[in-house]
Amino acid sequence: MAMSKTQTAELLPKIVGDLPGPRARELLKLDATYVSPSYTRTYPLVADRGEGCLVWDPDGNRFLDFAAGIAVCATGHCHPQIVKVIQEQAARLIHMSGTDFYYRAQVDAAKAVGDIVPIQGGKRAFLCNSGAEAVECAIKLARYHTVRRHLISFHGAFHGRTYGAMSLSYSKVIHKRRMGPCLADTTAIPYAYCYRCPVGKTYPGCSVECLDVLEKVVFTKGVPPEEVAAIFVEPIQGEGGYVPAPMEFLRRLREIATKHGIMLVFDEVQSGMGRTGKFFASEHTGIVGDIYCIAKGVASGMPLGVTVASSSVMSWASGAHATTFGGNPLACVAAIKTIELLEQGLLAHCETMGERLMGGLAQLAKESPIVGDLRGKGLMIGMEIVTDRATNDPDAQTRDRIVDECFKRGLLLLGCGPNTVRFCPPLVVKPEQIDWAVNTIGQVMAQLASHGGGAKAGR
Ligand SMILES: Cc1ncc(COP(=O)(O)O)c(C=O)c1O
Repeated sequence: MAMSKTQTAELLPKIVGDLPGPRARELLKLDATYVSPSYTRTYPLVADRGEGCLVWDPDGNRFLDFAAGIAVCATGHCHPQIVKVIQEQAARLIHMSGTDFYYRAQVDAAKAVGDIVPIQGGKRAFLCNSGAEAVECAIKLARYHTVRRHLISFHGAFHGRTYGAMSLSYSKVIHKRRMGPCLADTTAIPYAYCYRCPVGKTYPGCSVECLDVLEKVVFTKGVPPEEVAAIFVEPIQGEGGYVPAPMEFLRRLREIATKHGIMLVFDEVQSGMGRTGKFFASEHTGIVGDIYCIAKGVASGMPLGVTVASSSVMSWASGAHATTFGGNPLACVAAIKTIELLEQGLLAHCETMGERLMGGLAQLAKESPIVGDLRGKGLMIGMEIVTDRATNDPDAQTRDRIVDECFKRGLLLLGCGPNTVRFCPPLVVKPEQIDWAVNTIGQVMAQLASHGGGAKAGR
């Protein structure tokens, strides 16, 4: 049934005063005094309350959230069924530590997450608190299982900020500046970033020659393949710029890994949990990994990371790896409910909404010379901003201005990579919200263009 104008308006942003408002400014001041300055806030959004895809600030401004707490609030902010299971669990048991004791929620969550991972046969899961911890677990597990040391990752990769995960990351130098030494025995190689092919080819029809460097250079000149424990790959690079790897790339990686007894680790921390319309982005390619790293959307905002492998791979000794807080009962029940909600319709909804968003953005891209590339799957879409399509020069400044101007109009976006706008709304996003967001970005881009065009604006 069609919505009335008033009903539609309630789903959309409402900015009632200057941003940031007085209450928000008060908090920003306190934050500047007490909170680590290392965080990367792009614009001064102070969140007070959330519901579905909407977020209110303390001054009564209502925003449409297309960032979802960095692709976390899969079921939307404060989904009533998620809130209910957390409240019920909180009244029953808040913490016990699965390291030393047993509790139902941990077993049920391990089974529920294991069941959706496409590895065949028996699977086991290690529950922790974050994406980085899920990656740390995968590093240790791969080394333990293979009794090898070397790790391969990709240019543009982001796996987290702890030392192991940071050592595999290659997306921004700020993550590593003055932080060394990183983990030894890691090598980063080019990713299949087809818009700016690292080896100057054009996809399709290129036989993913970007991977030649692994077999023809790394494995012959630098690292004996029989000493490589794992290849870590994001099936769609997240922080690196929302860059999907083509199926052939993952297939060839699978072949290389199998040939040399290397663990293929899919870091699906950002691309997983339904964000692309399937539980895992890699499922769109049919390629299966040996170890899966999962976090972000898995528990609808409760802190949970999960590393899943076959029972034969995850067969390490008691004491080899553990955690005090990981697999907290509140996070576990939220994860079980999240999976239920995804299965009961959100996956399909994500696919439909993703097509709508991609369609709307594609129309904008056609009309705007500053959209260099538009890519992604489901509700994980990146729009790469360039000075113009003749040169394809990356334009970080205009990307930042688009994100800023959208905030002023009540649309919350984030950037990713040096010059890409990322779209990762909660999977419960409504068609009216998508249409409004596309329209707003279109207006912003048109305004920037009328002030001198793309990157030239404001320079
Ligand atoms: C692909 C990927 N892996 C790992 C991480 C690290 O997750 P966390 O910030 O929860 O430690 C992120 C975070 O953005 C990510 O996108």
